[in-house]
Formats: sequence, C-alpha cells, structure tokens
Amino acid sequence: MKLRGPARPLHGSTELCGDKSISHRALLHAALSPDESRIQNVLRAGVTTAMIDCLQKLGVSITGDGNNLIMRGGVWRQPNGPLDCGNSGTTMRLLLGALAGMPIQVDLTGTPALECRPMGRIARPLRDMGASISADRAPLSIKGGRLRGCEHHLKIASAQVKASLLLAALQADGPTTIYQPGQSRDHSERMLRNLGINVHSTASAVRLHPNGRPLPPTHLTVPGDFSSAAFLIAAAVLVPGSKVHIHGVGVNSTRTGFLDTLRAMGADISIKNCRERGGEPVADITARHSKLRAVEVRGELVVRMIDEFPIFAIMATQAEGTTTVLDASELRVKESDRIATLAGELRHMGVSITERPDGFVITGPQQLSAAMVDSQSDHRLAMSLAIGAMLADGKSRIQHSEAMRESFPGFADVLRLLGAEIY
Ligand code: S3P
Repeated sequence: MKLRGPARPLHGSTELCGDKSISHRALLHAALSPDESRIQNVLRAGVTTAMIDCLQKLGVSITGDGNNLIMRGGVWRQPNGPLDCGNSGTTMRLLLGALAGMPIQVDLTGTPALECRPMGRIARPLRDMGASISADRAPLSIKGGRLRGCEHHLKIASAQVKASLLLAALQADGPTTIYQPGQSRDHSERMLRNLGINVHSTASAVRLHPNGRPLPPTHLTVPGDFSSAAFLIAAAVLVPGSKVHIHGVGVNSTRTGFLDTLRAMGADISIKNCRERGGEPVADITARHSKLRAVEVRGELVVRMIDEFPIFAIMATQAEGTTTVLDASELRVKESDRIATLAGELRHMGVSITERPDGFVITGPQQLSAAMVDSQSDHRLAMSLAIGAMLADGKSRIQHSEAMRESFPGFADVLRLLGAEIY
C-alpha cells in the first residue's frame, strides 16, 4: 500500500464490520448448538475465515451470504486432517477450550507467527480439567473428553484464556471458577448469560455452573468493531480539519480504554445514541481533529486498550510532552512483538521512541518522515503505519499491508471514502 501525506481533512460517516471478538464467540456458541442459529454482521476477515473453516471441518453447518450466517452444530466429528488456524490466536485458543470436552483427537496448526505464540496459558488449565494437549505451542494435538469443574487462578488478565476456559466449563461435570488479576473483555460472560447459562462475574472472578444440556441457538447482530473504529478515530483526531462519524460501534467499557485515554489527552470525541445490541452497549462516535497532550498509561487501563497500542503510539508522536506506556509486556506476544516492531518501524519514519521491557516512551510532537515501512504481517501494525504515513510529508509505502485483511478488510476503502489518498 502507498499513501501520500500530509492528508487532506477527512470527512464523512461510516459503519464498520462486526466485532472480531464477538464474531469469534458467536461462531463458537452457534457451533455448540444443535438448533439453527442466525448471526448478522459477522466479521468476514482472515481471522474469522480461519474459525469458519475449522468449524466446517468439525462438521458444523455454516451457510448464508456475506456477513449473515445460518449455522447448525452440536456434537463435533473427528476431522479428516489438521485444522489450520491461520494467523489467528483467538481461533486456536477458543477452539482448544471447546474441543476439551469432545471425545475426538484433533491436530491444530497455524502460520509460523502463530507457532511462536504461547498456548501453555490455555493448555495447562485445560489439562487440569481433564483434556490431553500435546504441547504448549502450535502445532499441537488435543484429545478431549469428560471434564471436571475447576478453580483457575490466571496470572495474566487474558480474555482469550477466560473465554476458552468458559467453553470448556460449559461441558464440565461441575462449576468452574476463574480468578483473574484484572477485568478483561467480558463478551463471553454476557453472551452466555443471554443464552441462559448461569454465569456470575465480577472484575476479579467468573463462575460458571454448567446445566448439562447443549447450548440453545445464538441469534445476534454483531456490533461494529471498536478496535477497527480506533484507527478512524485516530485519523480524525490527528489530521487537521477532520470530522468523522462512525455508527453502531460496540462501546463495552472493557474495550474502550483507548477512548478514555484519548479524552484524557484532550481529544474531542463524542458518543451519542447509546443503545443495546445483543446484550452489548452500542453507540455512534464522532471524532474531530484535536491538539493532544501526553499521558501515562498503566495498570487496568492497559487491558482495556490492549489491541490499540500500535495506533496509540502514532498518536503519542503528536502529543505535547512525554507519553509513557507501562505494564504492557503482553504486547510482546501478539501477532508480532508489538513493542519491538513498533519501535523499529517508527524509527524508519524518523520517530524517536524508547523501548521498555513492558512498554515504550515517546516525547512529542514529532514530524514523521515519509518512508518504506514493514508491518511484519501484523494487521494492527499495518493500519497504524498507514495512519502514520498520512501525517508524513510525501509518499510512504507499507510492505505486507495485505495483513489488514486479517481484521479490517475494508480499511483502505473506508479511508479513501473519507478523503485519504491511498494507492
Ligand atoms: C481477544 C483478547 C485479547 C485481544 C485479542 C482478542 C479476545 O487477547 O488482544 O485481539 O477475543 O478475547 P488476550 O486475551 O491474549 O489479551
């Protein structure tokens, strides 16, 4: 992808593709139900294609057109070969939880990047519940069966681990309690409660009592993805003269730490027309160009904006003062080592950034230079670098920009409609 900066003001309204986390969970819940589920506005992107392909190989029926799917699942069958989770950590981790209760043997593989990501955080507690899992990294093999309810004490606040354990807990012979060191996104808890499952949750613990019956069908319209909206919000706030509306975005507070942080930096962002869609808060967001001041981000806020740090780093380059991110070592085990990749690629754009083991420090404002940069096949890096290129003077090129298709296939089209020069 090539972009020319400095960008003209961005103007207009848009709607977004369905939320990645909610789409994954909806697909899995529907796959566990023998009745017909109907899910609207499902994210169709690289990560959900991986999940859909795996579920079909497990015998789940998935039909429909585009973003609206009709599904029927129930008991899964032994697939003919390994299941390829592509580059999607959520696919592998959540599938492991669901497979833990099934008496079949399944091999899971993925891209070389996925093979580097930690799976022991899921495999260890699932083994405690009774599943056999061959390794703590992909490729791995799982043999599920009868599960016992357990108490798990998580060392990290990970929604993927929590969601995976809840999928196993549904199939266990007694209650499961998950103690978490911080409140991670709570979509699974909300969705399972909507399906009539007894799930009790606080910021520090989630307890699920299985009822021994298959899940009822899922009927849901997936809200727009806040983590995709974050790139458009950032572009509007950063590009002088801009004003952008985004309709129907999920604003669950366990996801919107980025909004709270930008507001603390002085960004002009309004949230209107708050309503509920499928048990999740949804709203319309308007973001306008604003002058930003530096902030410190640490602790519980980090978990609530864990996917937004690549784009946040671009924003930090434009904020007056020193922005510090701490307690974010999880960034090192995402689709890339996001601290190292960010630091390396931003330096190509002339940015001065200091890496910390658990975050980074950027003093702004800094002028970005047009450059050839590389997303390292990390979708959020690719989109963040594209927004960075809109601030630079001249033509930038983003290598491996096709990674954007993993979570936001319409990214370039939406930005073009708002007025960006993308080739
Ligand atoms: C996700 C949780 C987060 C997030 C990922 C999606 C989820 O991962 O980074 O993009 O859907 O539960 P962790 O649980 O590893 O923090």
